[in-house]
Amino acid sequence: MSIPPAPGSLPLLGHALPLVRDPLAFLESLPAHGELVRLRMGSRPVVMVCDPGLTRRTLLQDHVFDKGGPLYDRIRELVGDGLVSCPHGLHRRQRRLCQPAFHPDRLPRYAPAFTSSAEASSRSWHDGQVIDVTAEMMALTARVAVETMFTTALSAQAAQMVIADINELMDTLLWRAIRPSLLERLPGAANHRYDRARAHLRRTIDAVTSGRRGDPADHGDLLSSLQGTGDPGNPAGQEGLAGQELTDQILTFFFAGTETTANVLAWALYLLARHPENESRVRSEADALAGAAPTFADLPALEVTHHVVMETLRLYPPAWLVTRTVAEDTELGGVRLPAGSAIAFSPYLIHRRPDLYEAPDRFDPDRWCGIQPDRAAYLPFGSGARKCIGARFAMAEAVLALATLIARHRLVLLTDRPLRPTAKSTLSPRGLRMRVTARHA
Ligand code: HEM
Repeated sequence: MSIPPAPGSLPLLGHALPLVRDPLAFLESLPAHGELVRLRMGSRPVVMVCDPGLTRRTLLQDHVFDKGGPLYDRIRELVGDGLVSCPHGLHRRQRRLCQPAFHPDRLPRYAPAFTSSAEASSRSWHDGQVIDVTAEMMALTARVAVETMFTTALSAQAAQMVIADINELMDTLLWRAIRPSLLERLPGAANHRYDRARAHLRRTIDAVTSGRRGDPADHGDLLSSLQGTGDPGNPAGQEGLAGQELTDQILTFFFAGTETTANVLAWALYLLARHPENESRVRSEADALAGAAPTFADLPALEVTHHVVMETLRLYPPAWLVTRTVAEDTELGGVRLPAGSAIAFSPYLIHRRPDLYEAPDRFDPDRWCGIQPDRAAYLPFGSGARKCIGARFAMAEAVLALATLIARHRLVLLTDRPLRPTAKSTLSPRGLRMRVTARHA
């Protein structure tokens, strides 16, 4: 059986044009051509998996469908063999070393950073101000990353530079994965900025981790946990991470956790502004809490907010396109795939399939009332052995930060025009501007 090609490929360019111009519409058009569809990303043929059952199989057989392919090859250039990009052969050890930092017992310790960062954003806004929501949410989640990873080891200025570096690198990552190979070696300002941001970010992280080298104290942050110091979730005698490995891991968490969660928060604020009935329900839920700001213990009471975040992740999954490399000859959907083939799948494509979701484009947080998501149909955090290690962290962060912001402000859209997502390495509501109004105005 052969794999049908996706329409729109051009000599040399492959599918770079539709992937750059309107990647989401392009993705949504693919299932009409088959369960598997052939694309060209850059110089490489890539098999796009459109079927939910086959996508799940690629996720569960992580030794066959290993990290790699156009996107992960670029991510690896940035963060080396950190947890998100390391091959199957290194993964078990890496995951075991990182797991204590994400032990459920650790979450309550991180949670105050989620609300305090949302409060800091909220305090910095004044009535009537127009804010760039995506940039504001990026600052919010970067503050959380710095505080939970390093306690207070980065100055505000250094943290700002980290955000700028991450933005620069994330902006160009997808393009580097899909650009035609003839453009790869051309010198250019964008390449220069990318190299500079990459070197600068590494230096910043190196400086922080070396300052804590040999420090036996448990600072209660992710860095302590990764170094294996004084952690109750860390089995006795387990070695911690050090040197290059530690830097790769810290960089990985910055990349994997900052822009993703920021985008979810920004999209949730956008969706709530377009659906005021849901916004009022989220606000009432936050108002009903006894304390000034929601705490970790309040999470079970924030059910509507939780459903809003789940639905936001369905409509706008930040990791919208994911690639793999085939590690050994195999078959998928009746098609033979030789070792070295590249495949891709898309949580966005799966989440918008009308055979899996009724009215898939409709924002309907109540669709999650009383049901557990189907594991093949709902993939915002991936699945299997490579499922997001920060999923619980991210959900708690998004719910607590959203409840904190909505309790304090009404954010009003400047236009009724629907916002088109910008598909870079994550799915971003770039250009989303909203007016902050006093809560009771
Ligand atoms: C809403 C926010 C987030 C989303 C949507 C998200 C999504 C994902 C997805 C889809 C994967 C699997 C990728 C694949 O299969 O190739 C993943 C993996 C990962 N994520 Fe997240 N993530 C989020 C937040 C976070 C946070 C906050 C952290 C850390 C603090 C984090 C750290 C990681 C790591 C380390 C991996 C690799 C896990 C492994 O391979 O063992 N993520 N994430």
